[in-house]
Amino acid sequence: MANDLTNELTADEWDELNFPRAEENEFDRVVERAISRRGFLGGVLAFGSGAAVMGTGVLGLSASEAKASVSRFAFQPIPTFTDATVHVPEGYNWKILARWGDALVDGAEKFDHETGGSAAGADKVFGENTDGMESFQYQGKQLLAINHEYANRRINLPQNEDGAPKNADDVLKLQHLQGVVVIEVEEGDGGWAIVKNSPFNRRITHNTPMMLAGPAAGHPLLQTAADPSGTQSLGTFNNCGSGKTPWGTYLTCEENFNGYFGATDAAPVERMDGVDAGYKRYGVTDTGYNYDYHKFDERFDIAKNPNEPHRAGWVVEIDPTDPNSTPVKRTALGRFKHENAEAVLAPDGRVVVYMGDDERGEFMYRFVSNGVYAPGQPTDGLLDDGTLYVAKFNDDQTGEWLALTPDTTGMDAANIAIFSRIAGSAVGATTMDRPEWISANPNAVEAYCCLTNNKNRGVKPNAGGDDTSVNGPNPRETNKYGQIVRWRPHNEDHASDTFDWDLYVMAGNPTVHEGPKAGSENVNAGNMFNSPDGMGFDESGLVWIQTDGSDSNEGDFAGMGNNQMLVGDPVTGEIARFMTGPKGAEVTGLTWSADRRSMFVGIQHPGGNWPDGGKLPRSSVIVIKRDDNGVIG
Ligand code: FEO
Ligand code: CA
Ligand code: CA
Ligand code: CA
Repeated sequence: MANDLTNELTADEWDELNFPRAEENEFDRVVERAISRRGFLGGVLAFGSGAAVMGTGVLGLSASEAKASVSRFAFQPIPTFTDATVHVPEGYNWKILARWGDALVDGAEKFDHETGGSAAGADKVFGENTDGMESFQYQGKQLLAINHEYANRRINLPQNEDGAPKNADDVLKLQHLQGVVVIEVEEGDGGWAIVKNSPFNRRITHNTPMMLAGPAAGHPLLQTAADPSGTQSLGTFNNCGSGKTPWGTYLTCEENFNGYFGATDAAPVERMDGVDAGYKRYGVTDTGYNYDYHKFDERFDIAKNPNEPHRAGWVVEIDPTDPNSTPVKRTALGRFKHENAEAVLAPDGRVVVYMGDDERGEFMYRFVSNGVYAPGQPTDGLLDDGTLYVAKFNDDQTGEWLALTPDTTGMDAANIAIFSRIAGSAVGATTMDRPEWISANPNAVEAYCCLTNNKNRGVKPNAGGDDTSVNGPNPRETNKYGQIVRWRPHNEDHASDTFDWDLYVMAGNPTVHEGPKAGSENVNAGNMFNSPDGMGFDESGLVWIQTDGSDSNEGDFAGMGNNQMLVGDPVTGEIARFMTGPKGAEVTGLTWSADRRSMFVGIQHPGGNWPDGGKLPRSSVIVIKRDDNGVIG
């Protein structure tokens, strides 16, 4: 997320400024470690034109097999662009489906480019900063559930000179335009559009009542004055990536939740044991990201409500088919800066959910349910009862999932859920280069995770003090470009505790660098990109990769253009550019219509000239189609 509220700082950068980490690794030690790694990298994961090829390495075809294979891509790859619009290949077209401020119901305010709308109206329109999204078919209707991740202060409160909230109404407006939306959409002669007044249309905001379930529900650390039960919270926050359960519910993932909390000067109430350590590990501070909620809404004032931050940072399950349903925070899936939640079934029917924690040097997680999923049987407890694991990657391209239990961590089940990061550190999880989306291949028992970048790799430890020297899946110091790691669970079982792994791609710039910064062999001048983030497989088994990185198009990023969406073939390692977004935007969130003839893609925080007919550039979901109305993916 390019968090405008922090005034040019990313969420990570802001956290670091407020929680500076010790400079643990002096330059000499970093270089020494990098050199000592060359044996491994040279032998298994060669860079450039080496013999063994990343992307077609141990889990894919050999380089010669890859070259001999025929491309499965049904499009001509496009070049980069640096302009303010979207580009798709010849034979494809795109159109805006929905933007911030579009009405969900008759009588909603018409969007006002001078003010960005009122607080009272902001939860009756499509929200801001679209991110993860999933497609649902119900009673013949096409439903979409879409996240609204964060707020752009200067765009969302344009009447305030610095964009800062000045009163409770400003805060309420920000709270209303974030969260989640469920919409019914329909394709007519003019293309896809929101079905206004559909009974399924629903906004879920920072104030919507939800339940807390699972091992942390009701724990004293989740109790507040307003909710002594510790089971009923309000709102879902910084909804980033998404997921979908086998039983057809939506999973929305709370990422940089810490930014919404702050402290007034009021005398602080006493904090329970572990709270301050948790604040430090999760970046909860007296100022937050300058959303300033705490100045006008005391629920967000940690001087008065120190446990409120513990009620955020979860995966939330929403039934998009029932607009009256109460969203449920599934605490068994752990509390961290959740990116997305990829749910798959093990052969025996247990539910496996893969999850990344997007912060420099944090971990990758897996939940395995105790119960099994059977179509038509009750599913309500499946995500409340199971085991949370963290990933440990070995340099020999094997890995294991380490269970987070009272025995392994010395923490009780509720504390493991609430302070999962601390539990992960206790068992020695592998520090990662910011795990973003995880996606499982529907045609093979394997999963992929975007590791977006990490300028601190080999430079300083994470907030828990864990070592972040280069390691197998995170092999480059001060990693600017990112990579995608994939793993194959042993016994073709996602519930298996061991796996093999390789890097599907290591992004880089072969026109500027040689060696590791040039990227893996499946990266070239024609498809290069940086900072992979959103990701999803289509039904044909191709993987769609979205980027959230530098669009400066200069220096290390020369020739990469705007953020974009590419398609990868998991078998051959081939990667081709399919779409470019407008300058300033991140491309994030993707799903398909039931007939796969329409692809829905999110354009988050576009730049100033995004062509939406007004002065405020508004985050949008677009629809991409083939001119011949053929299947996409
Ligand atoms: Fe909201 Fe890690 O992206
Ligand atoms: Ca983002
Ligand atoms: Ca993301
Ligand atoms: Ca990102």
